[in-house]
Amino acid sequence: MASLTIRKLDETVKAYLRLRSAGNGRSVEEEVRVILGELIQGRPELSGAPISPSSAEAPAEAAPTINASGERNVTLIIGGGIAAFKSLELIRRLKERHIDVRCVLTRAAQQFVTPLSASALSHERVYTDLFDPGSEFDAGHIRLARECDLIIVAPATADLMAKMAHGHADDLASAILLAANRPILLAPAMNPLMWNNAATRRNVMQLRRDGIHMIGPNAGEMAESNEAGVGRMSEAIEIAAAVADILRPPQPRPLAGKRVLITAGPTHEAIDPVRYIANRSSGKQGFAIAAAAQAAGADVTLVSGPVDLRDPAGVTVIRVESARDMLHRVEAALPADIAIFAAAVADWRVANEGEQKMKKTSAGMPPLQLVENPDILATISKLKEKRPPLVIGFAAETEHLIDNAKAKIARKGCDWIVANDVSPATGVMGGDRNTVHLLTHDGEEINVDSWPVMTKEQVAAELVAKIAKTVEKSS
Ligand code: C5P
Repeated sequence: MASLTIRKLDETVKAYLRLRSAGNGRSVEEEVRVILGELIQGRPELSGAPISPSSAEAPAEAAPTINASGERNVTLIIGGGIAAFKSLELIRRLKERHIDVRCVLTRAAQQFVTPLSASALSHERVYTDLFDPGSEFDAGHIRLARECDLIIVAPATADLMAKMAHGHADDLASAILLAANRPILLAPAMNPLMWNNAATRRNVMQLRRDGIHMIGPNAGEMAESNEAGVGRMSEAIEIAAAVADILRPPQPRPLAGKRVLITAGPTHEAIDPVRYIANRSSGKQGFAIAAAAQAAGADVTLVSGPVDLRDPAGVTVIRVESARDMLHRVEAALPADIAIFAAAVADWRVANEGEQKMKKTSAGMPPLQLVENPDILATISKLKEKRPPLVIGFAAETEHLIDNAKAKIARKGCDWIVANDVSPATGVMGGDRNTVHLLTHDGEEINVDSWPVMTKEQVAAELVAKIAKTVEKSS
């Protein structure tokens, strides 16, 4: 039998259906069934026998079109808090991402937003009552709990969280949460004193242990005048992003079980307690590689010089200052299966580092004596024991890029080199894009693979994919 896609209907028809279904507290699909049923009931000539909307083939309330479109769908429980108004925006944000939303409003939530607004935005019937004969004739709360990909509670009030932590089920929201076999995401929102109360802390800990996802709360101003602190519900856009993350199908994890060690950023070599020698490395490329390797399932340690970047999620980040610190922390992080040296390590440090701030004197400029820093890449590549099976260096050059990179692979003893042109005109240093050439050993020959200009994240993903392929081949 042919199916009808509401989305493809004429805009005026859709608007009428939305209004009528919201007014009757039904989903748009249910409303269409009822209309068709009513139509046919009065016109027996349209079918062999009169068809009622509640006949066995198309019961008005049964079998809502969950997953009918093949899209993701969520049950959104709106709790009773001032942040409930943001949940209306959340519905819109989720629908933008092609996620169908069915809303449940607690009694308290209805003090802040109406079922009609939630229904008009979600284009679905809204549920409010555990003992609603219209939906509970076939245990509707169980369907709301199970026939979805995710249950979101926003705002998750202190009371709802307490009920969840203790397994209460005395209203529709808590009954759904107790009957759920789907992931649950809470977006807590409450006064900072309630959030910090020992009882809430215990409940939050219990819920986390139970595997419940949480986003927020954020810090900021409260609705109560002159109050601020942690307790504001995350913004709709943040919650929608967290939902998309949870719903994303699991990524392949080709580096699962592998230890990856990465260096990134510049090093700072002290001249005296307040001055140092540095370079323009932003650390972005190394951080992007760490994030990509982590996403591929690796256990990643990132040893970074001073940079203004956030720790990539799930990565062990060790912050260092100088080349010598970096070498010590790299050595301590061994063994590793793969080592990637993306840091722009200073070649030299000051031999006569001042213990006090150097002063201007009439004797002229103080002489700065430089000594060579340890070469971390060469040191690790030449290790007899604990040498990672795959060692990758970087070659940032401003001229004769490939020739210099080829010489470097031999001199340093690494397996691969990622060569990039860092002349100021390229904007690579500190920028978001990179043009790289991957040099790998091909027997005695060096193979050069030139990649097009890409974002540093794309370069990272490509490099990690290449590593994964090599690791797979050799295992
Ligand atoms: O010799 P150059 O600095 O051009 O070599 C670049 C490569 O060597 C990069 O992988 C960099 O991380 C690494 N390197 C290092 N220790 C140094 C200098 C460079 O690990 N002292």
